[in-house]
Amino acid sequence: MNLSQTAAGRLGMKASTWNEGNVIRLLAAHRFSTTSRRDAKIYECATDAVKDIPDGSKLLVGGFGLCGIPENLINGLVQSGVKNLTCVSNNAGVDNFGLGLLLQSRQIKKMISSYVGENAEFARQYLAGELELEFTPQGTLAERIRAAGAGIPAFFTPTGYGTLIQEGGAPIKYKKGSKAEIEEASAAKETRNFNGIDYVMEEAIWGDYALIKAWKADTLGNVVFRQTAGNFNIPMCKAAKTTIIEVEEIVEVGKLAPSEVHVPSIFCHRLVKGPSYKKPIERLMFAKDHVEAATTPAAKTREIIARRAALEFSDGMYANLGIGIPTLCPNYIPKGITVHLQSENGVIGVGPYPRKGEEDADLINAGKETITLLPGATVFGSDESFAMIRGGHIDITLLGGMQVSQYGDLANWMIPGKMVKGMGGAMDLVSAPGSRVIVTMEHTTKGEHKILKKCNLPLTGKGVVSRIITDMAVFDVDKAEGLTLIEIREGLTVEDIVQNTGSEFKISADLKPMGQASLNQ
Ligand SMILES: *[C@@H]1O[C@H](CO)[C@@H](O)[C@H](O)[C@H]1NC(C)=O
Repeated sequence: MNLSQTAAGRLGMKASTWNEGNVIRLLAAHRFSTTSRRDAKIYECATDAVKDIPDGSKLLVGGFGLCGIPENLINGLVQSGVKNLTCVSNNAGVDNFGLGLLLQSRQIKKMISSYVGENAEFARQYLAGELELEFTPQGTLAERIRAAGAGIPAFFTPTGYGTLIQEGGAPIKYKKGSKAEIEEASAAKETRNFNGIDYVMEEAIWGDYALIKAWKADTLGNVVFRQTAGNFNIPMCKAAKTTIIEVEEIVEVGKLAPSEVHVPSIFCHRLVKGPSYKKPIERLMFAKDHVEAATTPAAKTREIIARRAALEFSDGMYANLGIGIPTLCPNYIPKGITVHLQSENGVIGVGPYPRKGEEDADLINAGKETITLLPGATVFGSDESFAMIRGGHIDITLLGGMQVSQYGDLANWMIPGKMVKGMGGAMDLVSAPGSRVIVTMEHTTKGEHKILKKCNLPLTGKGVVSRIITDMAVFDVDKAEGLTLIEIREGLTVEDIVQNTGSEFKISADLKPMGQASLNQ
């Protein structure tokens, strides 16, 4: 008898007589003794698996967007009526699914999240002072959870240095009945300089319970995730006193190959097979036969920027493309150049949108759009994804901006009292030492300057932008020296750029017309 069959062993059964039914009976007898990490306790129903969670608990809730959501366990919490919860979750669901259900029933007191943009009820409760929110950059969130699981109380990260996240003052709670008056703001965080780079100290996040959605488990609680549904589920499994995992399928011990298991059984305390899965898709996108020619002025502007930005790629690069204009760039990557697209929810090798009928709710990008994977693609958890981002392994990051300062400060995550979406992974992406940050944006918005001496919106990163590509010009940005105009769109003069730019800039001795990659299809 091998050691992985301890349950059978303790009963004195022969391995050959061992079956799932025996294990369930054995485990049921042990259910209320201790939180033994040796064997998962298998529950018949998700409601039972969560019914002892008391008011005021701190829950780690897995998933990214609507992908990998412990939907049956959340439904169980709606039924139990538990209140005053603190939920640590990258997103807050949508109005009628995921954590959105617990928001509607007012069971959540506080959220710790990086991006809550898809939930109208969330925004309403937060701005009305009915809900507390601690925004945490996505990679910092993943690492705070990972650190907890690994027994590390705090760590230093460059993410968020010089922003509200480090300096303090981010609104956690608005005053009830006020117009965006802050009742509670985030505190300043310790900083430290290592080798010339400024870092922020961030503390681990432990949970009382983790609510996890995995694909398959064996009866010991070894679990496997499918496609991009591992995301935050993987680090969260390890960071709670009690980890409750719901799966689509429970198999006998020995049916999962050891090298196939993503999270070993030691991290699983309770296991339940969900009766059914809705798995809604947040942004259903399909491949088009042709790239449609831009017709509206806004689309033409975006196309000009994307065609210029595509020239930034070189063969073999690993790139992260933010939502919006950067996602158009792959249409213009010159032939013969391979760019490996990383998406921060946990993919390298993002392919085109799927054909109709090939969409997969477990396979999305960081914009929550359906995707396909290219041959050689890999999927991994959010902690791993941000380790590669923060570790400087991504060559280039392209993202949008609301404002950029002459010294490369970027603002793109928040309009105080108005826009409540969150920074998502942007703060982590822009502050990673060693990776190049390119901002793609319209030169002005409704006649207002977006390139400024100093940003007046809350920053995403300080001194982080290397290059700005707009529909009018391309600037190089130096943290100390400021802006240099290096390319100008054909038909425009330097005077046009001066008028549309809210900061002074130098003009390159080698000023060129703005490049435009051609459509690659
Ligand atoms: C809510 O839970 C917190 C612990 O997270 C506790 O300190 C607080 O007293 C609780 N509030 C209510 C109204 O139960």
